[in-house]
Amino acid sequence: MSLTCPICQQALSLVDNGVACPANHRFDRARQGYLNLLPVQHKNSRDPGDNAAMVEARRRFLDGGHYAPLARRLAELAAERAPQRWLDIGCGEGYYTAQLAELLPDADGYALDISREAVKRACKRAPQLTWLVASMARVPLADASCNLLASVFSPLDWQEALRLLAPGGGLLRMGPTAEHLMQLRQKLYDEVRDYDEQKHLGLIPPGMRLAHSETLRFALNLTSSQARADLLAMTPHGWRASAERRAAVIAEDFEVTVAIRYDWIEKL
Ligand SMILES: C[S@@+](CC[C@H](N)C(=O)[O-])C[C@H]1O[C@@H](n2cnc3c(N)ncnc32)[C@H](O)[C@@H]1O
Repeated sequence: MSLTCPICQQALSLVDNGVACPANHRFDRARQGYLNLLPVQHKNSRDPGDNAAMVEARRRFLDGGHYAPLARRLAELAAERAPQRWLDIGCGEGYYTAQLAELLPDADGYALDISREAVKRACKRAPQLTWLVASMARVPLADASCNLLASVFSPLDWQEALRLLAPGGGLLRMGPTAEHLMQLRQKLYDEVRDYDEQKHLGLIPPGMRLAHSETLRFALNLTSSQARADLLAMTPHGWRASAERRAAVIAEDFEVTVAIRYDWIEKL
């Protein structure tokens, strides 16, 4: 086990119903199976991260299979790297994590999110993984303990990523391109904001380098009003756009471009 105590950073080991460190900081396993390694003093709010409504909307949408090609490619790219230990940072309700786990059956898999509502649901998708409620700013895993980190539509703490990676390991990042959901954004806003899809590349710290990039693009026909409502609710458009424009989007079928980039950023 390579978990570390979020309070004193010493190694955690398994005890009766959870984990504990030599200083006797103890963390119980929740009924659903995850470990809560987010001490109150590290929380900025009572319920940080995505709330239950956002998590449910994302779960319904993803389980509808609309983004299945994205998850498949992510898992293939991870499997090609054959990591011994991997961690999904900002795993949400675990749709992508579970597909990673499926293509990495012999690896030691971890996943974390700061949202308890998300992890509570996620851990049911792949009980063989170690699921954590934890912050990506203080990941409770040892230095150089991971060969692959996944970051899917999530923010990232690059210094933590660098610390967690073993030499030769890397970060598999999946995020939107400038074209992603363009038709949806055109329906929601008078002026569609430019999106810099390469912004994250400027954040790569010394000691890491971009080794591979690719884009996956396809047209998605959204014929169910529930799917359109969920797509809005799981993105910032759910609160950013006006109620009137959102209602118009939900009312009509439309075709939207999905365009996602994958970057593999290696630790040197
Ligand atoms: C857009 S969602 C993506 C979830 C999932 N990867 C997916 O694509 O379905 C971003 C996730 O990052 C989580 N998050 C935000 N800040 C975080 C932090 N400081 N530490 C850990 N997770 C965080 C949120 O709770 C949310 O589940």
